[in-house]
Amino acid sequence: MTSLDDIDDLRGWLDLADRLGEVRRISGAHWDKEIGAASEVNYKRPSPPALLFDDVVGHRPGQRVLTASMGNARRLGMTLRLGTGLDDRALVETLRSKPGEWAENASRYPVREVETGPVFENVVRDDDVNLLDFPVPKWHEGDGGRYIGTGCAVFTTDPDTGVLNAGAYRMQVQNDGRAASINMEAGKHGAAHVRAWFAREGRAPVTVSLGHDPLLLVVAGTEVPGGISELEYAGVVLGRPVDVVRGELTGLPVPATSELAVEGWLYPDRREQEGPFGEWTGYYSGGTEPVLTLDVRRVYHRDDPIQLGAPPGKPPHDYSYMRSVMKSAMIQDALVRTGLPGVEGVWAHEAGGGRQLLAVAIRQQYAGHARQAGYLAAQLPSAAYMNKFVVVVDPDVDPRSLNDVVWAMCTRTDPADDIETMRQTWGSRVDPLREQGAPPFNTRAVIDACRPWTRLETFPKVAEASRELLDHVTRRWPDVLGGAW
Ligand SMILES: Cc1cc2nc3c(=O)[nH]c(=O)nc-3n(C[C@H](O)[C@H](O)[C@H](O)COP(=O)(O)O)c2cc1C
Repeated sequence: MTSLDDIDDLRGWLDLADRLGEVRRISGAHWDKEIGAASEVNYKRPSPPALLFDDVVGHRPGQRVLTASMGNARRLGMTLRLGTGLDDRALVETLRSKPGEWAENASRYPVREVETGPVFENVVRDDDVNLLDFPVPKWHEGDGGRYIGTGCAVFTTDPDTGVLNAGAYRMQVQNDGRAASINMEAGKHGAAHVRAWFAREGRAPVTVSLGHDPLLLVVAGTEVPGGISELEYAGVVLGRPVDVVRGELTGLPVPATSELAVEGWLYPDRREQEGPFGEWTGYYSGGTEPVLTLDVRRVYHRDDPIQLGAPPGKPPHDYSYMRSVMKSAMIQDALVRTGLPGVEGVWAHEAGGGRQLLAVAIRQQYAGHARQAGYLAAQLPSAAYMNKFVVVVDPDVDPRSLNDVVWAMCTRTDPADDIETMRQTWGSRVDPLREQGAPPFNTRAVIDACRPWTRLETFPKVAEASRELLDHVTRRWPDVLGGAW
């Protein structure tokens, strides 16, 4: 029976999640919108279970799609190998400082190359390639096509140093199943690798895993610092190296236990119209544009492969919880590492897709401290992409509570004096505010929602009972009030 320590693939992960009562099955859904819509209903529930779709219309039973893999604290804690009994608060506490430690220790866990692995159970070559042999969902009603890559890991290398990168970049099936566009936004590590390969050899080698232990999605879909291989980073989390096989054509790695993987090359002049796609901003905001398209020359897959689906959309969506937890921990670590004193907490809210709205709690120590915290947080490499608002609050405000953060803004921010804006900052093609064809800049605001430094001692007292009094009445009438705090 699988325990946390010996999960080493998606099947082991599912086995444990199942035993914890964390998986529900849906049979007979259609790949055309039904898998996506059923998943969407599920995301909106508190602490949603994982959904495993089988018997997809038009496909062999056994070819499955998993969604909401990390939609609650229990499954995210399990995926990060931190424990199976964690709630939201305990997960964030346990995670604090871990991303920094994982990054520092990554080089101690080089991948282990193995001769073969389950991913080679089936190899499809050249003209036999058809990605639509698999139940690839059309996730949202307004999508421009079927997306095989959502919870994926796209592997590229730096042609100069050989350092490997894994990024989650969405992939739309193209050319009747023979190709897939890869939507790497400018500024992402994978995009830089591809540009460097084009300059050097005129084409860029790529492998992609499309179903795997969701840990691989966490590391591929989170801003791990450049120059660190995400597979080594995953190795630190696992406490052992990740086993990889080499793609037949490019020699790039593929996780040996991957469910489904593809291999091929990108060429500078091969682009297909991509999108629209329901984005993490909650809009079909990226429109349709020509995007680099992978000429898929090999498909490797296990018998009855399971695709790892992770479609975004209006939050909460498939991976908004994972993103919020990971971003919060990484940004807090990075902010502390700048040397800024008094950092008490950081939360990257799901409503902003884990990027656009950051709340930073500090204990003010000097005039200017609050603004410094806001400006620094807004431009940290782990936070800068598509941030819109950083709200700085005092430590009596829980940065994870949207209610408390907005209350602090309403009562401690003077809009005329306490909102600073920055222009021409790092935005995104998918920003619904971006004008068609304009470069993806955005603007952002630091909102100082701390008590004014000059009135720290004299600011009105908060009208809420003391912790002692609250505890007292809760103990006195436990049947009515118990569990409220
Ligand atoms: C499920 C999922 C889908 C994503 N889709 C895209 C995408 O289509 N394009 C993109 O540039 N980033 C996308 N991201 C964000 C990147 O994966 C993330 O920024 C990651 O850090 C990129 O890797 P890199 O920092 O090594 O470039 C997605 C993330 C997740 C979790």
